[in-house]
Amino acid sequence: MADPASERAFLSTRPIPARERLIVALDVPEVDEALALVDRLGDAVWFYKLGLELSMTGRYFDLLETLRKRGKRVFVDLKFFDIPATVAAAVRRLARRGADFATIHGNEAMVEAACREKGALKLLAVTALTSLDEDDFRDLGVEVSIEKLVLSRARRIVQLGCDGVISSGVEARALRQALGSAFLIVSPGIRPLERADDQKRVVTPREAFLAGADYIVVGRPIRAAADPRAAALAIQHSIGALFDAD
Ligand code: C5P
Repeated sequence: MADPASERAFLSTRPIPARERLIVALDVPEVDEALALVDRLGDAVWFYKLGLELSMTGRYFDLLETLRKRGKRVFVDLKFFDIPATVAAAVRRLARRGADFATIHGNEAMVEAACREKGALKLLAVTALTSLDEDDFRDLGVEVSIEKLVLSRARRIVQLGCDGVISSGVEARALRQALGSAFLIVSPGIRPLERADDQKRVVTPREAFLAGADYIVVGRPIRAAADPRAAALAIQHSIGALFDAD
């Protein structure tokens, strides 16, 4: 059944193919393992995120190129964090590698420098890691709520020319309400069903998109499933139901 219009108020209207709205995190130790998973997932997944673990293999960019040749989109999630000149130089080099998305931390000078070098690469800023909760932030001496922190950082980041933010589905709605739709929201911390692991602010794929996410990032719920392709297809089905409902 179609959702009531009010429920769909924040649903992304960007012309993104529905099948590319699911980004699978290839958090595995070896490139061969990553490729085996990519083979297994086949046409169920069109967008992959390559993170820190694979960057230690020495074949990170071979994998990126292989995925590109297979028609996949690639998200380089190395969460750059350094002095602005160094981050800008890394972004400049990465922009020539054919990646679609990359992540940087949301500090202002860094974002500003990186945006000048990004070319066609879409830069996403990390506002607050989804594995942290309010207690963790209090431990770090941050007294404002996570929502306030995410909002104020996101506002500046978007003003500085960043393409979007990484934000848990829990905060996506508040971001859309406060800042509108002129930037991308990519939401990790997705759990198709309730489960306990280190992601504290989790939502279902449907909840994330209804809250305003343009893309979702899913790792363990697909990777650790008995049948990863079936798990990915189930998520694609729920995405298709949302975006093809008109
Ligand atoms: O396995 P799981 O679905 O929790 O994977 C989430 C992925 O999203 C991981 O690769 C993690 O690095 C990434 N991520 C995150 N929170 C952020 C940014 C990225 O969980 N704020």
